[in-house]
Amino acid sequence: MSQRRKFLKQSLLGSALFIPGITQACAQGSKENLPGEKPLILSTWNHGLPANEAAFKKLQETGDIVDAVEAGVKDTELDLNNLSVGLQGLPDREGITTLDASIMKGDGSCGSVAFVRQVKHPISLARAVMEKTPHVMLAGEGARQFAIQEGFPMEEEKLSPKAQKAYDEWKKTSQYKPVINIENHDTIGMIGMDASGNLAGSCTTSGLAYKMHGRVGDSPIIGAGLYVDNEVGAATATGLGESIIRICGSFLIVELMRQGRTPQEACEEAVKRLIAKNQQDIKDIQAGFLAINKEGHIGAYAVHPGFNFAQGTLKGNILIDSKSHF
Ligand code: GLY
Repeated sequence: MSQRRKFLKQSLLGSALFIPGITQACAQGSKENLPGEKPLILSTWNHGLPANEAAFKKLQETGDIVDAVEAGVKDTELDLNNLSVGLQGLPDREGITTLDASIMKGDGSCGSVAFVRQVKHPISLARAVMEKTPHVMLAGEGARQFAIQEGFPMEEEKLSPKAQKAYDEWKKTSQYKPVINIENHDTIGMIGMDASGNLAGSCTTSGLAYKMHGRVGDSPIIGAGLYVDNEVGAATATGLGESIIRICGSFLIVELMRQGRTPQEACEEAVKRLIAKNQQDIKDIQAGFLAINKEGHIGAYAVHPGFNFAQGTLKGNILIDSKSHF
């Protein structure tokens, strides 16, 4: 039987079990080291639940894990209640929303966009960079021009009412101070594995609220916000991008798994490293990591309590509280 037919058969079985909208909460840390089940999709925060549903739906339609991780986070990019992903996200200090995104396949192909304006689906633009250009990353006006040239849907540059209200409030003091665990609506990072063990990942965000104009976080930096290698596994990150870039977080986790660590051990080591390199401000820094290895075992760990993630398998889509260092 061809791989695709085998997958579709499994998907059919799965569709009876994977019921969109049916979720359950799990106790802290109870399922991080589940034995591998494939297909498997993990994504950061509460918004991971609907994103996983969209990803599984696409996986069932096309059988392609890259299509799935793109479709999954596109759902979050369109969520009008989300203030940290997509064009409705909170703006920078100048009142302008700029977006970062990346996508990566298990064979090493990858694409990303950074500091891009007006693009409705930065994740799809990142995929176009991967598939249609000789480059890995496009930034700023060049990325916007590429989007226009490729016929991507663009939006007028205007804050959503919710973002405008928050920005007006912020301007009263104009204090720059990220608040930890506002991240329940932070970056969406998604990593997935299809029934045959192929991996892919995606990551998209409007970045830190009230950042300096031009600031780029970890999400579009391959190896920081996202890294995928079919020989080993995949990892993604959420939280304060500067702290994650300093340790090449996602690449570090994949390399630790390559050396034999479990996904959980690798995530914990990355958090330890991050704390060591960001000691001065650590009480104000939240960062969290998700990982999958080749066998479909998973890991999740954060600096502070409050980080959660959605785990989707053919058995269901559940929200899990991550363990944390502090
Ligand atoms: N993790 C998202 C950012 O720092 O931009």
